[in-house]
Formats: sequence, structure tokens, C-alpha cells
Amino acid sequence: MEDRIPVIIDCDPGHDDMVALVLALGSEKLDVKAITNVAGNKVMEKVNRNTLNILNYCGVDHVPVAAGAERPIVREYARKDTDGCHGATGLDGFDFPKENPLRLSEKRAIEVMADVVRNSEKKVTFICTGPLTNMGLFLRAFPDLHEKIERISIMGGTCHFILTEPFMEFNTYLDAEATKIVFESGIPLTMYGYDVTYSVLYHEDFLEKLENIGNQTGDMMAKLLKEFMGLHNRVWIDLGGAPVHDACAVSGVIDPSVITKSEMMYVQIPLQSGPLSGATVCDYAHRSGKPANVEVVFAMDNEKFFDMVLKSASNLK
Ligand code: BDR
Ligand code: CA
Repeated sequence: MEDRIPVIIDCDPGHDDMVALVLALGSEKLDVKAITNVAGNKVMEKVNRNTLNILNYCGVDHVPVAAGAERPIVREYARKDTDGCHGATGLDGFDFPKENPLRLSEKRAIEVMADVVRNSEKKVTFICTGPLTNMGLFLRAFPDLHEKIERISIMGGTCHFILTEPFMEFNTYLDAEATKIVFESGIPLTMYGYDVTYSVLYHEDFLEKLENIGNQTGDMMAKLLKEFMGLHNRVWIDLGGAPVHDACAVSGVIDPSVITKSEMMYVQIPLQSGPLSGATVCDYAHRSGKPANVEVVFAMDNEKFFDMVLKSASNLK
């Protein structure tokens, strides 16, 4: 474990968060120190249940899981249970065992984050795959720990790829104030927005490869991702395959060479109400004169990425 990169995953499962968790937990490069949950795709209770179900089914019982913020820092939790493309449970498409021996930590997300960062010899990398509420709260509450953060790897935002009005990617939009705190923190940030995540799509053949692994993790993933492809392509946009947004933000931490095109630029987060609230406004032409604060990822080596996911899945139960 000593050579591994210490990471904390802050998530809101969600099918693609599930892939992110499997990719991280099965990786021989990462040491997942904690998983913290945030209300995002679904309310906190469902997100907690989903994270614990994934871990239990994949045979991971050594990683602390903590509940986090139940709503954005300033705004209401603007999400109906019927919204989104993850189904009513947040993880539709698979029946997890009714009994789960895993329990949540007695501490809340930002306490667990602080414990891990404070006690780590190495700087810790955060991987955020949900709204940035916990991350924003943590940065505000523990300014003394900023210097012990290596980087924040974020699935969120978009530079050119606009899916819908408001000009939104869900994670940055849901808690715009938290997003602003994180993007203005001065900590190294890598943003995997829609520009890249919608260029990394899986198709039916990937589901077969997951099944062919022959373990229960692969079986679970194949079923969940089959369901998600249907939901995503009906509710959002049908591009022939479906994205696993969140897993992209894990892959670049495991192996930065998976990123084939990225650029440093200034990204600002407007807060006023209207279509740009919580959007990542990217100065891709470098006209603002403001210092670049984010590495924005535009392309990845898709083959390498999907191989990494398969390998991690085969390392779990
Ligand atoms: C993001 O929103 C959620 O639906 C996904 O889990 C991902 O984190 C994509 O916009
Ligand atoms: Ca997510």
C-alpha cells in the first residue's frame, strides 16, 4: 500500500459513480482511504444505501464510508426523485442482497476527509464525482489542510459540449456555490467535463466483456450498465453508446497517460440565476488575462480507459 496514491472518493451513486468506485477499488495503483457521500443523483439516504451495496457486493469491507451534505450549501436540493437517468433507486437494474453488514461511519464526510488528510504522510488526491458540496464545505472548514491536497480530480462541467439549457452539467450546476469555492481554491484541479466524458462511450460489446470476467462484480456492472444505457439514451441523448462520466475522473489519477488532450485555462463559475448559473465558463481562447486555474480534459485513450475498468473489475469479488 505504501507506493499507492492515497485518494478519497466523494460520490453520489449513480451508475457511473459505481463504475468509478469499481475502477478505484480494484486498482493496484490507488489506496482508497475513504468514500464520502453527497446528495446529488438521489437524496442522501439512497446514495448511502447505494454506496454500501456496491462495496458489499464487490467484497470491499475495509474502506470507511461517510454520509455527507444532504443539500447544497446555499440552494435547495433541486431534484425530484423521478429526475435523472439513474432510475428511482439511483441504481436501477440490479437487485442487491437485502442484508448488508456494512455500516456508515459515525463521523460525517468532512470529518472523515479531515482525519484522512491530516493523518496521511503523502498528499491526498480527491476524486469528486457528485455535486461539490462536501468538497466546498471541507475546503472552507479546514484551510490549514489545503496544502496537504495533491489535486482534486472532478467529473463536472463542460467547455464546448452543451447538452441542455440551463448551460449545465449536473454536478457543477446543482451546487453552484460549492463549485465556485472549489474552482477558486487555488488547489490543482483537473476537470473531466462533458467534452471528454461524452467522447468515451461504451457499447454492447463492453457489457459482454464485463460478463465474461466471470465474477460477481462484472455481472453486477453488466446488468447496471445495460439498464443505464437504456435510461440515459431515452432521457438524455442517444449517441449510439452511453457514457460513464465519473469513471473518467478516476482513470487519470491511476494513469495520467490516459489523457490524450488537456489544456490549462481559466474557468469561472457564475452564480446569478439564469442559464449560466453553476456553469463552467471556460476561457479556452485565453482572452481573460486571468491565470489558468483548471486543467480541462478534452480527450482520452478510450481503449486504455476501458481496459483499466475491466482490469479493476476482475480484481474484485
Ligand atoms: C454527472 O451527473 C450524474 O448523473 C452522474 O453521476 C455524473 O456524476 C454527469 O453529469
Ligand atoms: Ca455522479
